[in-house]
Amino acid sequence: MDKLRVGFIGTGRISDLHALAYLDDERAEIVALCDRNLALARSRGRQWNVPENRIFSEYDDMLALEDIDLVEILLPHHLHYQATLDTAAAGKNISVQKPMALSVAQADEMINAAKAAGVILKVYENFIFYPPVQRAKALIDNGEIGDPLTIRIKSNSGVSPTEWDVPASAQAWRLNPDECGGGPLVFDDGHHKFALGWHFMGMAEAVHAWIGSTELGPDMLLDAPAIVSWKFPGNRYGSLEAVYSPELVLDTQHYAQDDRVEITGSKGVIWITRGHGKMMDVPPVILYKDRRTRTFSDMPVGWEHSFINSTRHFIDAWFAGDPPQLTGEDGRDVLRFALAAQESARSGQAVQL
Ligand SMILES: NC(=O)c1ccc[n+]([C@@H]2O[C@H](COP(=O)([O-])OP(=O)(O)OC[C@H]3O[C@@H](n4cnc5c(N)ncnc54)[C@H](O)[C@@H]3O)[C@@H](O)[C@H]2O)c1
Repeated sequence: MDKLRVGFIGTGRISDLHALAYLDDERAEIVALCDRNLALARSRGRQWNVPENRIFSEYDDMLALEDIDLVEILLPHHLHYQATLDTAAAGKNISVQKPMALSVAQADEMINAAKAAGVILKVYENFIFYPPVQRAKALIDNGEIGDPLTIRIKSNSGVSPTEWDVPASAQAWRLNPDECGGGPLVFDDGHHKFALGWHFMGMAEAVHAWIGSTELGPDMLLDAPAIVSWKFPGNRYGSLEAVYSPELVLDTQHYAQDDRVEITGSKGVIWITRGHGKMMDVPPVILYKDRRTRTFSDMPVGWEHSFINSTRHFIDAWFAGDPPQLTGEDGRDVLRFALAAQESARSGQAVQL
C-alpha cells in the first residue's frame, strides 16, 4: 500500500504534536518541511528523519515537490488563507489548523479553491478527538442523558512551572488581533470551545458575548474574563466562561490552562472534568442519571492524544476515501460561530446566525 506523504508548512510550537501520529504509523511519512525559521525546521527535520534537501524556508519551493499528498498548514492565522489557496493551486490536499481563516469570505474562497482543484480541505480541530470528549459523545449518542438541553464550558488559564516552552514569537502574533483574528482566549483557544458547543449541540442560532480585558504588559491585552452565551435551535442553550488568574498555578505538560464541560440532558448530566491540565482530582468523565453516579477512567487523558486521534482519523479517512473531520464547510460553521462572539462583544447586541 502506498503511503500518505505529508509536508508541513510551519514547524513551530504545535508541529510537535502533529508529527506524533505520522511518526507512529507505517501508512504515513513526513517527507518535507518548511518554515521561515530554517534552523527550527532543520532541527525538526533531524528529529523526524526528513532529509535536509527537503527542508525549505519558502513554501512555494516545498509545494513544487511532486511527492507530497497532504500539506499541514501550521501558520499564524492571518496566513492560513493565502497558504491554503497556494497549496490548492499546487494540487495538494490540505489540513489547515483552526481557525481556518479570519473571515467567512476567506473561508468560502478556501473551500471553493479546494473544490476547483479537486483536493481535500480538512480543518484541524483536535478537541473533538480528546478521548474524554469522545467518551462523553458516545455516552450521549447512546441516550444516557436523554436529549441534551444545555452545555456549560469553563476554561481556566493561569501559570505553570511544568508547562511547555512557548516561544515569545508564538505569543506575539496571538496578541495582535490583525494576525490572530481576535484575542488569544476567546478567538484562538475559544475556537476549540465553540467547536465543542457545535459538536455536542449543533450550530447555534444566536450568540451574545461580553469579552473583558486583562493587561499582561505594555500593549499586551488578554481577552478575559469573558462570558459567551449560545442559543441553539429547539430551546437549548450553552455558555463559555474564559478566565485568566495570574496567580493560579496549574499542573500541565502543555499550556497553563484547564477546561471543564457540563452537559445537562432530559434525564441525566455528564461532566468532562479536564483538558490541558488537571485541576480536579476526579475521573475524566462522570455521568449522573437515575440517582446514580458512574465514572469513566479507562481512557488516555494526555492532551496530546487529541492530536494523535485527529491525525489517525485523517489517515484512516484518506485510505478509506471518507471525508475528514472537520470538512471545510464544518470549519466555516465553527468560524461563523466564533466570529459572532467577537461581533456581539463589539456591538453589545446578540448576533443571530
Ligand atoms: N489545536 C490546538 O490545540 C492548537 C494549539 C496551538 C496552536 N494551534 C494552531 O496552530 C497554528 C500554529 O500555531 P503555533 O502555536 O505552532 O505557532 P508558532 O508561532 O509557534 O509557529 C508558526 C510557525 O510558522 C512559521 N512561519 C511564519 N510565517 C511563515 C511563512 N510565510 N512561511 C513559512 N513559515 C512561516 C514561523 O516561523 C513559526 O515557526 C495556529 O493556527 C494555531 O492556532 C492549535
